[in-house]
Amino acid sequence: MAIIVLCTALGLLLGAAAFGPVPRITWEHKEVHLVHFQEPEVFNYSTLLLSEDKDVLYVGAREVIFALNSLNIAEKQHELFWKVTEDKKTKCADKGKSKQTECLNYIRVLQQLNDTFLYVCGTNAFQPACDHLNLMSFELAGRNEDGKGRCPFDPAQSYTSVMVDGELYSGTSYNFLGSEPIISRNSHQSPLRTEYAIPWLNEPSFVFADVIRADPRDTDGEDDKVYYFFTEVSVEYEFVGKLMIPRIARVCKRDQGGLRTLQKKWTSFLKARLICSTPDKNLIFNTINDVFILKSPSLKEPVIYGVFAPQLNNVRLSAVCAYNMTTVEEVFSKGKYMQSATVEQSHTKWVRYNGEIPKPRPGACINKDSRAANYTSSLNLPDKTLQFVKDHPLMDDSVIPIGDRPRLVKRDVKYTQIVVDRVTALNGSVYDVMFISTDRGALHKAISCENGIHIIEEIQLFPNFEPVHTLLLSSKKGKQYLYAGSNAGVVQAPVAFFDKYSTCVDCVLARDPYCAWKPQESACVEILQESEGERDWIQNIGGDASSCSDKVKENSLQHTFKHGSTAELKCSQKSNLAQVVWKFKDDVLKVESPKYRLLEKALLIFNLSEGDSGVYQCLSEEKVKNKKFSQVLAKHVLELKKVQRITVGPTQPAMQTEGNSDAPKMSTVSPERSTIQTSTTQILPITTSKIVTNPIIPYLTSTISNTEIFSSLPEVPEKTMFLQSNDNCLLC
Ligand SMILES: *[C@@H]1O[C@H](CO)[C@@H](O)[C@H](O)[C@H]1NC(C)=O
Ligand SMILES: *[C@@H]1O[C@H](CO)[C@@H](O)[C@H](O)[C@H]1NC(C)=O
Ligand SMILES: *[C@@H]1O[C@H](CO)[C@@H](O)[C@H](O)[C@H]1NC(C)=O
Ligand SMILES: *[C@@H]1O[C@H](CO)[C@@H](O)[C@H](O)[C@H]1NC(C)=O
Ligand SMILES: *[C@@H]1O[C@H](CO)[C@@H](O)[C@H](O)[C@H]1NC(C)=O
Ligand SMILES: *[C@@H]1O[C@H](CO)[C@@H](O)[C@H](O)[C@H]1NC(C)=O
Repeated sequence: MAIIVLCTALGLLLGAAAFGPVPRITWEHKEVHLVHFQEPEVFNYSTLLLSEDKDVLYVGAREVIFALNSLNIAEKQHELFWKVTEDKKTKCADKGKSKQTECLNYIRVLQQLNDTFLYVCGTNAFQPACDHLNLMSFELAGRNEDGKGRCPFDPAQSYTSVMVDGELYSGTSYNFLGSEPIISRNSHQSPLRTEYAIPWLNEPSFVFADVIRADPRDTDGEDDKVYYFFTEVSVEYEFVGKLMIPRIARVCKRDQGGLRTLQKKWTSFLKARLICSTPDKNLIFNTINDVFILKSPSLKEPVIYGVFAPQLNNVRLSAVCAYNMTTVEEVFSKGKYMQSATVEQSHTKWVRYNGEIPKPRPGACINKDSRAANYTSSLNLPDKTLQFVKDHPLMDDSVIPIGDRPRLVKRDVKYTQIVVDRVTALNGSVYDVMFISTDRGALHKAISCENGIHIIEEIQLFPNFEPVHTLLLSSKKGKQYLYAGSNAGVVQAPVAFFDKYSTCVDCVLARDPYCAWKPQESACVEILQESEGERDWIQNIGGDASSCSDKVKENSLQHTFKHGSTAELKCSQKSNLAQVVWKFKDDVLKVESPKYRLLEKALLIFNLSEGDSGVYQCLSEEKVKNKKFSQVLAKHVLELKKVQRITVGPTQPAMQTEGNSDAPKMSTVSPERSTIQTSTTQILPITTSKIVTNPIIPYLTSTISNTEIFSSLPEVPEKTMFLQSNDNCLLC
């Protein structure tokens, strides 16, 4: 194993090739409409709970719980401060914790108990407490239960919880130091917990827990199961340092513990390794950051999606792996167990157990077969079975991802959270849309299709690049939103930005299963399940936009120029997968010539002369599979000014361009003597005036960070080189 890990590190160093697909579109924070919620002096909005039938989003932050309108989270409905008493704060500080930060009440559990109550827990200055929150009065019931085992003491420690039939299942630490990990069920009838032993849990970092209900159609009387996901320190591999291993563990809902052995402990606790690595094993992702279990009535079986990272902290690399529930079940119900083998020097190593396995199978849930054998409850399981599971909680078989490889591997990003939505496209094909957040406040939205992963878009959710700590997705069609929590606040985002696509080609090339082009309205709209009948809508997740019949843009900008001057023709496009092509009189312009310089959002033409008059078109060309789709983004008409005057400037454009901030703009400039100002602002507000002066600042230093573009461009004749714009926006 040690060797494999070293290869991993090496693979990372060598495999410097660009990894992972590029998001087709990047939306800056200010480009999209997002709804924010944050209150002054309130931090750590880390716990979110959605009540879809009431349209309420509950938010647990530091010392306060909010109820927000989930359709518009800026609208606060209730707030409840739950502060630590001064006495507790002092005691906490006496134990060496920070009074200003650690000795506060961080809300860590928000679960729906029933229609009128939420179950809530907070760290409460290292004395975790739980209570019932009355949703009518939005007040605590004042039960002040001990939260030990349900909520961490330390706000910096990992935790997870899920409410199943009124009982809270949690994964957290059980003591002040955080050294005693626990997976427990808090219930009056039969509280259960894990053994406090290294083979059961070894410094785990909990990320997620969820229930998987037994299929009611099954006849084998299987139990509902609760799955836990965490990263822990490996016991089974020898390694110089601590080798981390991503795990899946599960317990059965009807577990009652053992009668003598494993009294009040799980008799059904089993765990296995989750594999997430590239097929050549060059990249091994051995820490898990988050999990989402996609469950849908239309699904044959749930699918588990996890986001992973390599153990090496300095490497920014992430992966998404998906697992089939059947595979997981098979590992637990049929797999081999591991057992500790004491080697010399008291080095314990874990190896496959090949001996006899007691009956009933250790760790199995009570089902029809065990009942038939008179084992009606875990309480009457034989000691042999219980002793075995106590000593062998770890499976030898691992859980292999679907397709035996990650769904997505992406460099230069650290994924933090994931939610997945299953969307039926217009043609009936089903897509799992993954929303994956990053540690820099962004969100990637991706689908997998025949030719790999397609990242539809990247959205900057938080302006200050705050790590996203929580992600939630609502499921109401037509009012579907994504909610993200960070230390600074909560953001509500739509699942797609339909109105950003103004042409059919744009709408289709987005390859977004939520979006389709509606020809009657000339609009990109959300596909709802009910409107599946509308057959003239256009959508193609393969990216074939050939059924689009967008009208060619007739708007063009007219410019006049004088001999020897320089023109700047504006043109910009959003797609990172498209290429900009300039055409002059219908021929592709050879922009490599020193006469031109192609900038990110403009074309410069130097030393204008008569031959340069004519129509310039800026096209965006996007290739999907083997088809190329081009759209005219801007049209400019250049005309030589007959009268030789000092002042030059573009004349009135033929038509108004749409209210687009990236609208084409142009200015003409002259390299000659005195300061010349073009004056076009009254005519065309979007055209910025430019001042041209004789040698003032070299071109390169006056502009934005376009060094890469510039360094690859040919040298430009010195004489023509000195422009300065009065708005510093020449290259914007
Ligand atoms: C709470 O938020 C503050 C402010 O962003 C941050 O510095 C701190 O690390 C957060 N604490 C926890 C426990 O998340
Ligand atoms: C909700 O749960 C609380 C606490 O267990 C209980 O007192 C209350 O009666 C329940 N309400 C309903 C409507 O079931
Ligand atoms: C899940 O895995 C099992 C076993 O590998 C396979 O038979 C089944 O078709 C898979 N299901 C899906 C939905 O991939
Ligand atoms: C189960 O218990 C019943 C009643 O105690 C007994 O009649 C039956 O033979 C038992 N079955 C097995 C498989 O032990
Ligand atoms: C739907 O369109 C996609 C993309 O072109 C294609 O791969 C898929 O086979 C189509 N599905 C059906 C059911 O026709
Ligand atoms: C500008 O173009 C004219 C021909 O139109 C040419 O004679 C002259 O050398 C060019 N000047 C520069 C600096 O390239």
